[in-house]
Amino acid sequence: MSEENFKANNFTNLPDIRSYTWSSPSNIALIKYWGKNKNQTPKNTSISFTLSNSRTITTLELNKKNKADNNILFDVYYKNKKIDEFRPKIDLFFRNILEHCSYLKEYSFKIITANTFPHSSGIASSASGMSALALCVMSLERDLDSTMKEEYFYKKASFLSRIGSGSACRSILGGINLWGKHTEVEKSTDLYSIKYPYEICKDFLDYNDTILLVDTEAKKVSSSDGHKLMNNHIYADKRYKTAQKNVIRLKSILKNGNLNSFTSLIEEEAMMLHALMMTSNPSYVLIKPNTLKIINSIKNYRETTKIPICFTLDAGANVHVLYPKEGEKEVESFIESELKKYCKNHLYIKDKVGFGSIQL
Ligand code: PMV
Repeated sequence: MSEENFKANNFTNLPDIRSYTWSSPSNIALIKYWGKNKNQTPKNTSISFTLSNSRTITTLELNKKNKADNNILFDVYYKNKKIDEFRPKIDLFFRNILEHCSYLKEYSFKIITANTFPHSSGIASSASGMSALALCVMSLERDLDSTMKEEYFYKKASFLSRIGSGSACRSILGGINLWGKHTEVEKSTDLYSIKYPYEICKDFLDYNDTILLVDTEAKKVSSSDGHKLMNNHIYADKRYKTAQKNVIRLKSILKNGNLNSFTSLIEEEAMMLHALMMTSNPSYVLIKPNTLKIINSIKNYRETTKIPICFTLDAGANVHVLYPKEGEKEVESFIESELKKYCKNHLYIKDKVGFGSIQL
């Protein structure tokens, strides 16, 4: 499929008012996407767990304008309060998807959004937020085109959310998702994410992810700026090649369920992401002293108990603690007694791999 397949123009009989609501999950990358091309396609393939409890719920209300124009008019409400914080990103998103969704010119919008996780918790809401909004847009398109197939609906929703925020394209479907062309993964593409297409050992279907909130401040360097710094990065080529190899390593781990190999690979990926930030020009550091204390504590605990717990990191200081269902009670009392003290306000969020976006 090419970009051309996602152009939807020349609709007639547009409804005057409509409202759509979607709930979309966040996701955590196991193989990280870090570095992108101009058209928001990735430099390497990434694979993620969908997180069932950390979600954004978004309602898109639309009103038909008297005359269609390129000016996208919208207001954003976080819960019941009108806010401007998300405006620039949403404005750019609408402008960038206009060529694929020309019917948007006909409407003005009210967007009401809320997260199930605490606002300003440091958890990136762009993945869940952009996917929820893209799905609302696709619900309108589906109302305009009664012949639309379900498969196309979800593909284009992933395609549109990718334009809003790369990692958002992996938040449409549940379970494990893959984004970015890989020569050894059939049907993989840079344009949208696909459901991970190979055998998965059952341990991974309900894997736990407890997110330790170390830092709740806004990041000093945004993900967009971080991606840009990969353009002239001295390790860029090596990174992209390694990521493609790591996809193959993960493929066999997901199949055979070797949790010790899983912990090694996942931690390598997390550390590589942050090593790239620390070695870019200019360099920067997003992890905090407490991030390192947690990492060391997890490694010691794994060494002494032989329980296959591991960590991964997003572009921030928070730590995602990954562990299987078997032995979860023991790990959770370790988190309570040894890791919680390193979290800001002792806050952490218990989540797990689970279901994808749903229409409400
Ligand atoms: O989707 P973006 O542009 O915010 O980039 C996200 C990048 C990482 O979260 C660090 C990794 C990933 O694959 O999600």
